[in-house]
Amino acid sequence: MAKRPAPQGPPPERLSVSKLGKRRNREAVLPPEALLPELTLGGDPSQRVAGPPPPLALRTHGDEGLSLVLADAVAASGRSERATHGFHAYPAGMHPDCARAVIAACPGPVHDPFCGGGTVLVEAALAGRASSGTDLSPIALLVAGARTADPGLAGPLRAASRRIAAAGQLRSPVEPGDERLQEWYEPHVHDELARMMALIVAEAEPLRSLLEAVFSSVVVKASYRESDTSNRRVVSHRPPGTTSVLFHKKARELARKLEELPPHEAPRLRLADARRRGPPPGTGIVITSPPYPGVYDYLPMQQLRLAWLGLDPGRGLAAEVGSRRSFRALGRAEALTQWRADTAEWIACQGEALESGARLAIVVGDGLVGDRPVDALGPTVEAMRLAGLEIVARASADRADHARDTLRTEHIVLGEKRARVSAQPKPAAT
Ligand SMILES: C[S@@+](CC[C@H](N)C(=O)[O-])C[C@H]1O[C@@H](n2cnc3c(N)ncnc32)[C@H](O)[C@@H]1O
Repeated sequence: MAKRPAPQGPPPERLSVSKLGKRRNREAVLPPEALLPELTLGGDPSQRVAGPPPPLALRTHGDEGLSLVLADAVAASGRSERATHGFHAYPAGMHPDCARAVIAACPGPVHDPFCGGGTVLVEAALAGRASSGTDLSPIALLVAGARTADPGLAGPLRAASRRIAAAGQLRSPVEPGDERLQEWYEPHVHDELARMMALIVAEAEPLRSLLEAVFSSVVVKASYRESDTSNRRVVSHRPPGTTSVLFHKKARELARKLEELPPHEAPRLRLADARRRGPPPGTGIVITSPPYPGVYDYLPMQQLRLAWLGLDPGRGLAAEVGSRRSFRALGRAEALTQWRADTAEWIACQGEALESGARLAIVVGDGLVGDRPVDALGPTVEAMRLAGLEIVARASADRADHARDTLRTEHIVLGEKRARVSAQPKPAAT
């Protein structure tokens, strides 16, 4: 993989607000090199690195200081592997530097209603802030919980995984399992996984969940599935014993990464619909990236993991916001109407629970349905206003989408809860 080119010349100068010469509430177009001067612009495909490419253009709006913070956040590019971020694949993760920039600028406990693999919660832990999160997917909560686990569990995790991996390699008979699972593995790989799983479920919490997350991190890699985001079948061979070795390696990786986290309070995690459950009282900043319209099917993508771990997606399947399958089933116009209604509902639920002065930051990307763009910014801003939030700043970044030979735009919108002004003034006391 090509490496990011080393910076040339003197260190980049950070652009000061005054140099940008923006006026409040006027759209400002930032030259992207002002914020990211060390990166090659234009996303030369031969120079591509893992993670999002640098933006081609940035636009800001609103409060000068905060819109610069947001521009920096939405421009985050490349890969960031600090602490536990790199452990376990999770689709459409927020860039850790984006979460870090917004958290640093907004005080108080942090909440993410679409927490996915827990990027925001890891950054909250690194910043020494209390946090909470919800998601519809039990796999999301398993991963988020593992990435934010107590660093004190690293030692017990190493010891238990060594024992379990050794048992996985023994050729002892296993109970005949789920036929749908067997189809996706070489027989010896399936049996190794089944032997390890039988031992994992016998462990007590909180170690059991950590071991399940490690197990979950290997089940797609060891299968015939092409990747996490594609269920195309690609038959491949894994020598006997290597799946257990991979499990042990991933457990040691998680243990090492957990030890990079400072001692922190475990985030409060709940399996819940973001349209129904808001942030806990006292939350200072809700920061989240909801599903982009028509891009992914989050729960169906986790089929193999759900089956191995005996987890039921339950009503979650019907409650997923903006799913790709809803766009296929309902057609573009109806699915967009549904996505807008869901967006208004979850923002109202989060916004109404916030106390005056608390903030909501939403990272949202324009969707792409049938090669036609879907505007995500307009409905998001409108829903925030309706929920009693004043839009204090926003920033947008355009990036090259080489696969489709087009530009994709991502936005961050920051709203602040205002005290409700009573519509009817009270009659003067007599
Ligand atoms: C873009 S991902 C979030 C990724 C996350 N920010 C991270 O960095 O890993 C969107 C998440 O929304 C979840 N989701 C979809 N509909 C939901 C709903 N109605 N309530 C709660 N979570 C939902 C999906 O399961 C998925 O994990």
